[in-house]
Amino acid sequence: MKQDMIVILDLGSHENTVLARAIRALGVYSEIYPHDITAAELKALPNVKGVIINGGPNNVIDGVEIDVLPEIYTAGFPVIAAGHSKAKCEVNLPQFTDDIEAIKEAVKGFVFDTCKAEANWNMTNFVADQVELIRRQVGDRKVLLALSGGVDSSVVAALLLKAIGDNLVCVHVNHGLMRKGESENVVEVFSNQLCANLVYVDATERFLTKLEGVEDPEQKRKIIGGEFIRVFEEEARKLDGIDFLGQGTIYPDIVESGTKTAKMVKSHHNVGGLPDDLQFELVEPLRQLFKDEVRACGLELGLPYEMVYRQPFPGPGLGVRCLGAITRERLEAVRESDAILREEFAKAGLDKKVWQYFTIVPDFKSVGVRDNARSFEYPVIIRAVNTVDAMTATIERVDWDILCRITDRILAEVKGVNRVCYDMSPKPNATIEWE
Ligand code: XMP
Repeated sequence: MKQDMIVILDLGSHENTVLARAIRALGVYSEIYPHDITAAELKALPNVKGVIINGGPNNVIDGVEIDVLPEIYTAGFPVIAAGHSKAKCEVNLPQFTDDIEAIKEAVKGFVFDTCKAEANWNMTNFVADQVELIRRQVGDRKVLLALSGGVDSSVVAALLLKAIGDNLVCVHVNHGLMRKGESENVVEVFSNQLCANLVYVDATERFLTKLEGVEDPEQKRKIIGGEFIRVFEEEARKLDGIDFLGQGTIYPDIVESGTKTAKMVKSHHNVGGLPDDLQFELVEPLRQLFKDEVRACGLELGLPYEMVYRQPFPGPGLGVRCLGAITRERLEAVRESDAILREEFAKAGLDKKVWQYFTIVPDFKSVGVRDNARSFEYPVIIRAVNTVDAMTATIERVDWDILCRITDRILAEVKGVNRVCYDMSPKPNATIEWE
């Protein structure tokens, strides 16, 4: 591994991940470790140049104040502390906030002057390192990857492909609830352009049959998730000599932000809970990256911009936007109206501004007029929201002219629809999705 590293020791700060991102933004690699790491463990990490003890309000567990081990101060690395007034360091910084620019300013002297860290963290080095590590881990054995077309799985696929070529087997399961053109795009990019070993499974009929008449959203999610694993498992069993499962695990999945205890690593199991008798070793080459770094890595690997900056899309796909019991007619209306919305948002530049935007088709009809006669058809609801972490969200105040244009197109082009509404509700009290 080429890059120098600044280690953050978590002493109850909410801002550990912000601090790591700020240091990485200075061009120096940084990782977060539990407060009770030993000096020997610290010394065993590659290229450590310095340590930041990051204190904060969560430094009391079961009534006892936690601290780093005293041996950390004499382990041979420069140490500073933030928000930790007892700390035995020459310089103590105040507690960090979530302002990345302010943190960069506060720590850059320590990182470059005291620790003499080199700003050598960049995506070119990351890709080169990972290619080497993957080859070392996998050798000439085979890796299986569920390629959904989402950002993380697409970037993992591109990285594994660069490292092991034909020994990567990607499986794309089209559950029939993808957005318009999405499965086709996965096949185009990975199979046609990048020449990856891709198994494409069109399981549309199987999923829609299983979902017939099912109204309850949680039941729908269970069926879609469960069936997805069964299809993937069936494909895996058809393949010979697979030893590894590739996964798009990223750094926020690994670090519990604001953790109060030494238990830093979430127990993350095989994705989607694959059965125990499918024994795979995991390959998780993005496990060090934050989401913005995953996107930068995708661009470095030559993936198309639209794939790398794809908006979040739920696992159950359009299945939770075709409300109640899914019918093919309404599913088609969701897919077509969503495609129009995406096209018009892209034309207006809103695709780069708005966090998530989509359409919903409920399972009731309203009265309208079409060709001078009474019609009784479905409404389409437009939702466009902004958020940082999806825990709360505000609505995008879309320009009326743009909304009118989208409405005209949906009414003219989508079959079985006679009304378009805009969802004005923030989260809370609403959620982002309708189901
Ligand atoms: P809600 O509706 O809970 O959505 O405000 C928050 C974010 O999560 C996404 N979402 C899902 N993602 N499987 C997923 O992978 C799901 O079942 C699911 N439900 C909601 C939603 O699109 C939004 O980004």
